[in-house]
Amino acid sequence: MPTQQHQREIDRYVASTPKSREALAEAAKYLPGGSTRGAQYFPPYPFIAERGEGLYMYDIDGNRYLDYVINATSLILGHAHPRVVKAIQDKANFGTAFSVPTEDQARLANMLCDRIPSLERVRFTNSGTEGTLMAIRAARAFTGRHKIAKFEGAYHGAHEYVQVSVSPKADKLDPNGTTAIPEYDALPPSVLEDVIVLPYNDLATSERLIRENKDDLSCVVMEAISSSFGYLPAEREFLQGIRDITEELGMLLIFDEVQSLRVAPGGAQELLGVTPDLTAMGKIIGGGTPVGAFGGREDVMALYDPTENGPTLAHAGTFNGNPLTMAAGCVVMEELTPEVYERMSDLGDTLRGKMRAVFDELDVPAQVTGIASLFGIHFTSEEITDHRSTLTGDRALNQALFTGLLNEGVLLGGALSAISEEEHVDTLVDATRRVIQRVR
Ligand SMILES: Cc1ncc(COP(=O)(O)O)c(C=O)c1O
Repeated sequence: MPTQQHQREIDRYVASTPKSREALAEAAKYLPGGSTRGAQYFPPYPFIAERGEGLYMYDIDGNRYLDYVINATSLILGHAHPRVVKAIQDKANFGTAFSVPTEDQARLANMLCDRIPSLERVRFTNSGTEGTLMAIRAARAFTGRHKIAKFEGAYHGAHEYVQVSVSPKADKLDPNGTTAIPEYDALPPSVLEDVIVLPYNDLATSERLIRENKDDLSCVVMEAISSSFGYLPAEREFLQGIRDITEELGMLLIFDEVQSLRVAPGGAQELLGVTPDLTAMGKIIGGGTPVGAFGGREDVMALYDPTENGPTLAHAGTFNGNPLTMAAGCVVMEELTPEVYERMSDLGDTLRGKMRAVFDELDVPAQVTGIASLFGIHFTSEEITDHRSTLTGDRALNQALFTGLLNEGVLLGGALSAISEEEHVDTLVDATRRVIQRVR
């Protein structure tokens, strides 16, 4: 139940979005809940987007929102960037899908391999989900071992083997340690047997669990900057420790950089100085069109090479590396010079600093996490280190802030873009101050 103050914010939002409410009710006759992606929903109901331009989204009721979600951090150049739009339009004139390679595939692959330390070879997919799936499959085939290890609280996409301990509620957690918890009741028990769940930022326990399973473990898959914990970078020693133990035991280290690639030209692996064997990617590299990718060591990626005696591992995907995605992705990579990353990171520091100052000023216990162009807000006085510490946060206050910010014309997420300026940061910070004063 929302508090009275939060309910007032909900009522105000409802009053300003009648067309969205009606359209969503109509859509719900055909789409479960009226949308086609769980993450598109938020209570009481999401507004319906009419268009996006730069940092702003406009809904069908004519409201404008400063967009800090930018489609799950993917629109690093903002909405409808003129160069991206033109590249897509130009390409579409020449055909939108081919059963043979194009030059643009190699061009984007080249740019990614030049920037990202672990990347010697890369393959494109249509989603980050497929990126982690194919990377994990490569690790299994390469090592001849079938188990995988992942961290409690980590999301790596929608496929079965990573639908384990993604966002377990407090009452499901074993106080004695991390266990494999299914995301839905009928997840096959065989999957749970083959997924080892590790505690983030706890090297000693992680190392023990990895050693206990060393004969069967093909890989450790992880985010070096954890999205679910508010873009929390892993502690340096912990990350290096995981690199060392995986190397020692002949298992592959897979970084899921679907979100974190945006922190530096070479992603989190460059920024934090630890190189994995394989990397899964997505989001920014498609310039706002559907995309994913995976890549890494040449000897591992050779499993997918169809020349000579045919591939060891099949890799299909009707729209993999399609011309529109490749063209849009190339524009993004060209726009993202090292100076642009630096500017985004500086602005991220400014944002985190100003948000912390507001919460201090209002005497609200809060942790502002994040790094570079990413940020997260947790209403708790406890330091955020892992999934369990995130559960100490006051989620109701987070939700009230989210709704209140909608009424201030801000869609709260956790990402800056290359076109963000300090004035946009100030809009968020000032609106946050007003909302907290109204809802707490
Ligand atoms: C860290 C991480 N990995 C994987 C994925 C899956 O990517 P996609 O939604 O493109 O399948 C996401 C998506 O949000 C993600 O944040």
